[in-house]
Amino acid sequence: MHHFQYKNNIMHCEDIAVPEIAAKTGTPFYLYSAATLKRHFHAFDSGFKGINHLTCFAVKACSNISILQQFGRMGGGADIVSGGELFRAMKAGIDPGKIIYSGVGKTEAEMREALFAGILLFNVESPQELDRLQKVAAELGVTAPVAFRINPDVDPKTHAYISTGLAKNKFGIPVDSALQEYARAQQMDNIEVLGVSCHIGSQLTQIDPFIEALRKVKNFVGRLQGEGIEIKYLDLGGGVGITYDQEDPPHPHAYAEAITKEMQGMDCTLILEPGRVIVGNAGILVTEVQYTKVNAGGEKEKRFVIIDAAMNDLTRPSLYDAFHEILPIKETGREKQIVDVVGPICETGDFMARDRLLPEVKQGELLAIMSCGAYGFTMSSNYNSRPRVAEVLVNGDQVHIIRKREDYDDMITSELLVEVP
Ligand code: LLP
Repeated sequence: MHHFQYKNNIMHCEDIAVPEIAAKTGTPFYLYSAATLKRHFHAFDSGFKGINHLTCFAVKACSNISILQQFGRMGGGADIVSGGELFRAMKAGIDPGKIIYSGVGKTEAEMREALFAGILLFNVESPQELDRLQKVAAELGVTAPVAFRINPDVDPKTHAYISTGLAKNKFGIPVDSALQEYARAQQMDNIEVLGVSCHIGSQLTQIDPFIEALRKVKNFVGRLQGEGIEIKYLDLGGGVGITYDQEDPPHPHAYAEAITKEMQGMDCTLILEPGRVIVGNAGILVTEVQYTKVNAGGEKEKRFVIIDAAMNDLTRPSLYDAFHEILPIKETGREKQIVDVVGPICETGDFMARDRLLPEVKQGELLAIMSCGAYGFTMSSNYNSRPRVAEVLVNGDQVHIIRKREDYDDMITSELLVEVP
């Protein structure tokens, strides 16, 4: 359930008519509903109220500092994967004691920053990373809190690019060699072993793979205990999917119930790293139709709706062939047509939808690309020298610009005009 609904045939975000915002900020822009963000965070987090847990929002899904701040105020922590995400989480006032750091390629500088900040856990993903972390922590004279990310070799049954828990994926340490790494870590002066983690993929629409992974992790924790190694944190990662089209993902409460049941008897704090399930349906991309045209005729007839948003603003359709529902901001009741909705970028891969049945739309009208709150703005770029778009947050009848639209100067601010003879 989200707060983008039609009132008198006009799409509203909470109490505000979307065209009102478009008139002030211009298009395209990302639009988030604060009520939806809060509702989804609460729905997820409260599902685990029966057990010790910490919900660490996956910053990569939606990293605007106003949104991170909201989750922080609701008791959330952050799952980060770079020094940049650490910087954002700290700017947003997230308690560093609730920040966990995942990712296969942490640099020395990033480790230093995270140690200096005093984060809760490093999810270590390789033997070499462990050695580097020991070295950096020793140089700083501190102790690094560590969990190893286990690769449970479980099929998450999702898109190949976002499946991470298979043996062939680059993530984590195989269960068989992990035991040895725990033993090695225990001998290190500046490493404190506190946890075990895993994350098997994103946009999962079934609970079973999570349970399968959790059972493997639990079994592994038992083996660690056998070696005298106690675990304080069990991090199950993120990955719960949302409905973009026809998918029927588990309700967060059903997910929480199944996990909670499986956690019975485990004497540790459960950490979760949800991203998409919290923000995915809390944001849309609003765009204006620039032109409509028909190419070819007869059997080859092809209708195009050319909008002012492009693959640099929302990459998911081009990169994953992802489906995003497209709705007119004003319901017109016009007849439906099959169209390609495309952007202005000079690539055939620049599309938001292909062969989509949509009510006829006309030049100058507004469209909403739905379910863009996760991996929307965060994956955007300046490709084709297109300034990044604005982000707007609505809370009831209040409209807040939470990121200004970039201008041309913003785009070249880090460039140096060097004249080479
Ligand atoms: N934790 C870790 C270690 C992750 O790698 C991810 C996502 C998450 C948590 C959050 O997963 P979520 O709850 O959002 O599924 N750009 C892709 C998704 C990439 C996901 C990468 N890792 C997309 O647009 O579908």
